[in-house]
Amino acid sequence: MPRPDDAGTTSAVPGVPLAAAVPAAPRVAAEIFGPALGLAERYAALLVGPAVQRGLLGPAEASRVWHRHLLNCAVVAGLVPSGCTLIDLGSGAGLPGIVFSMLLPDVTVTLLEPLARRAAFLAECVQILGLRNAEVRRGRAEELAGQLSADVVAARAVAPLYKLAGLAIPLTNPGGVVLAIKGAGAEAELSRARPVLGRLGARDVRVLHAGEGKVDPAATVVRFTVGQVRSRGRRPAAADDRTARAGGPAGHAAGRPRRVPPGRNRGRRGGG
Ligand SMILES: C[S@@+](CC[C@H](N)C(=O)[O-])C[C@H]1O[C@@H](n2cnc3c(N)ncnc32)[C@H](O)[C@@H]1O
Repeated sequence: MPRPDDAGTTSAVPGVPLAAAVPAAPRVAAEIFGPALGLAERYAALLVGPAVQRGLLGPAEASRVWHRHLLNCAVVAGLVPSGCTLIDLGSGAGLPGIVFSMLLPDVTVTLLEPLARRAAFLAECVQILGLRNAEVRRGRAEELAGQLSADVVAARAVAPLYKLAGLAIPLTNPGGVVLAIKGAGAEAELSRARPVLGRLGARDVRVLHAGEGKVDPAATVVRFTVGQVRSRGRRPAAADDRTARAGGPAGHAAGRPRRVPPGRNRGRRGGG
């Protein structure tokens, strides 16, 4: 059945109580979400309905839930290595963690969120959407360093990069990766954050553009690898600031969660 571009709305999504009309998925969503499109539609209904009602998402976000939120996160899934563990730091209403969980069933996702109402909404989403590879952890990143870690720490709209680095790096396994989903100001944020990144042992720092040619604007991601934290007084190695290009969505590898070296990225990449 043809999908309306962005204009149409639907109010009947199975299993999800609706308080408002849910914008119909744009055509590109079918390509990007693939077999997970149905889950994405149900999650869109949860965002537009209960999340807006409870003040977790602004009412103005409802009309742009696909482009600004779901697709912006979905195209970044292609940067997540197969079979890794991942923390969504400051998950809020589940972005990007819930989207990654539905697109990447072989990745074990922890949705980290300190606020009770948000954590409760996340738990409802996990249960309603049947996401067996996702769990909710309530807490602040700085309180959980040493207790919680993962191969990949992803974050969107949590803090400026210089501050986010200090929250994310202690949660990242040595050799693991931080993916900070940023907006148009990513390069400027990176310039400011460079001394902190160097001090904290970040390596191979890159600004990537995910989903080019599929979503507009493409998602901008600051990606870096985490080494050993450097001791005070030692001069940090210069961070690598090459600008690179990344593809779109991840493949849909099936199977049980398993751990693999986090440097091993997914073979299949959508969009460029
Ligand atoms: C602006 S919201 C963004 C939510 C979501 N990532 C998104 O893109 O829609 C920032 C979220 O980060 C959480 N947060 C702020 N500081 C945090 C910290 N130190 N540790 C963990 N989460 C934090 C907040 O509670 C809030 O839910």
